Amino acid sequence: MSGRHDAPWQEILEEIQVEIRPQLERGRVADYIPQLRGISKDKFGLAVHTLEGQTFQVGDAAEPFSIQSISKIFALTMAMRLEGDRLWQRLGREPSGTPFNSLVQLEHEHGRPRNPFINAGALVITDVVLDHLHGARQQMLDFVTSLVGPGCVAYDPEVARSEASTGHRNAALAHFLKSFDNLHNPAEMVLDAYFHHCSMAMTCVDLARACLYLAAGGVQPGGPPKRITTPSQAKYINSLLLTCGTYDAVGDFAYRVGLPGKSGVGGGIVAVMPGKFSVCVWSPGLNDNGNSLAGTLALELLTTKSGISIF
Ligand code: DON
Repeated sequence: MSGRHDAPWQEILEEIQVEIRPQLERGRVADYIPQLRGISKDKFGLAVHTLEGQTFQVGDAAEPFSIQSISKIFALTMAMRLEGDRLWQRLGREPSGTPFNSLVQLEHEHGRPRNPFINAGALVITDVVLDHLHGARQQMLDFVTSLVGPGCVAYDPEVARSEASTGHRNAALAHFLKSFDNLHNPAEMVLDAYFHHCSMAMTCVDLARACLYLAAGGVQPGGPPKRITTPSQAKYINSLLLTCGTYDAVGDFAYRVGLPGKSGVGGGIVAVMPGKFSVCVWSPGLNDNGNSLAGTLALELLTTKSGISIF
């Protein structure tokens, strides 16, 4: 590690906010989910939580946005808690090199998704949660609430409905998985739970805080510390984020940012520095891979300016 030692986070975040502003116009807001179409590309929020308990934020970091695929971190965490390594009988742990909603690989690989973060894998993970928990939709919300506190996360039923009405690719993936016997529950039930967890609305501040357990060896700090995963499971999730969290741009993201991270088409990205901090950025304009364009650049600036990354 090189660069500034005790990172002056507030100063760094403010510099980033200024430097990133000209980039916000680039990128395209996700329009395949009608409810997300109208979000302004001017939005930019950035929040850092340190393991010492400090929070730093700039811009629209306190405004809720649609977390979309970032929810796959929470679904995977729940599935790991419920099934441990048995999970891997149903899906893999390799980067896909394909877009997040691709169908082709699933045919070649006999219905076994490459990893838990592409849509096919996330549908299997959602099915695992449904296998174990009655009222899984509510329990997923309760789990995330337990990480951040009451009132910090809610489903956005309009977004869930909006995606359900246009989510033909996800419906195709779910039925395809079913044809390979890799969904136990009815496809419609899995899709409903999946669209709901993707519709969670949270702020950068709360989303960064919710993921702090991944920086802390599986223990969620704040109040009485809570064990969320084993230290090994926190390592496994971070490794999967690094290798699969940003889809077919994962190499570029790792190169630029140097942290495990997870994006969502709502324009959010969460990243984790084990032993130090978690960070969440939000900027709705996406690049061609469906990751926030300015968000990726902002995280690159964050690790460059602080001199802190895993490498
Ligand atoms: O299933 C979908 O297409 C969306 N609910 C989530 C996709 C997503 O966020 C991909 N992330 N970059």
